[in-house]
Amino acid sequence: AREIGIAVLGMGNVGAEVVRILRDNADDLRSRVGAPLALRGVAVRDLARPRDIDSALLTDDPAALVARDDVDIVVELMGGIDPARALIGTALLNGKSVVTANKALLAEYTGELATAAAGAKVDLYFEAAVAGAIPVIRPLMQSLAGDTVERVAGIVNGTTNYILSAMDETGADYADTLAEAGRLGYAEADPTADVEGYDAAAKAAILASIAFHTRVTAADVHREGISSITAADLVSAKKFDCTIKLLAICERVRSADGRQRVSARVYPTLIPHHHPLATVNGAFNAVVVEAENAGRLMFYGQGAGGSPTASAVLGDLVMAARNKVHGGRGPLESTYASLPVAPIDDV
Ligand code: HSE
Repeated sequence: AREIGIAVLGMGNVGAEVVRILRDNADDLRSRVGAPLALRGVAVRDLARPRDIDSALLTDDPAALVARDDVDIVVELMGGIDPARALIGTALLNGKSVVTANKALLAEYTGELATAAAGAKVDLYFEAAVAGAIPVIRPLMQSLAGDTVERVAGIVNGTTNYILSAMDETGADYADTLAEAGRLGYAEADPTADVEGYDAAAKAAILASIAFHTRVTAADVHREGISSITAADLVSAKKFDCTIKLLAICERVRSADGRQRVSARVYPTLIPHHHPLATVNGAFNAVVVEAENAGRLMFYGQGAGGSPTASAVLGDLVMAARNKVHGGRGPLESTYASLPVAPIDDV
């Protein structure tokens, strides 16, 4: 069988794990796909940095790597809007499937990218963009495609959940706990995205778009972070048998006249200890989905970190590679019904 050529863009925590799994699990992956997955190259910013990879595979020219004829699938793990947006766009237009974990990009440009993927009849997969290892994109897009989702709510940022749980457990202060989260590799390079809720808001936009078949961008999401939460706030919450969690809440809102809108919001929330989301601690994430016919579903697991996120990337990669080998395409992004977004004070 022919090889499926893979280009990886970015070799941070997640990229390094993807490269390792491609190497260590090559035989299993080949039998699952029906063809060998051949790593053509890895684009990095700093070629001089020592890495656990054959240096001949490294390049600092991601555009040239994406343009190679022997690249069938591009795995984008560099993050940020530019240059990821143009690189992914070019890859899709040239018939390459794309797997990405880039929530900031998807929270703005899912429409543009999905249209490019549909036009070129290739796959665009992004399970790793929301809640790391936890399958939540595919269940919403596929398993629940015949149901009506009413609500998606959860803990979708591992860094802030680590910080809030540690502060709750030990009484430690915010700054020390944030530093530890960075050391453990959960926090983004700039932790502002985590602690001010931007990361969770991007994920909420992606979840709301998919769950409600509409177009929600990060700017539509009401957002508050956790940087002003103190150890004393957690002590007070405990007195009421509660804890504080940063929740992303996406809901279908129905007005009395039957009009439907969507609400998406992220803020620190007081939740009672008996609530299932109160028991989600450390860097774990959990997402609760409520659908008209399915009822309540809960997804729980590791939402951040190299190996868990790489697991979701590899799942997407195997799907995209199978489609390259056997023909066919993954789920199309749904037809959009354009439900408007409700302002926060209307909810
Ligand atoms: N910084 C993110 C988090 C990584 O803490 O959840 C996963 O998106």
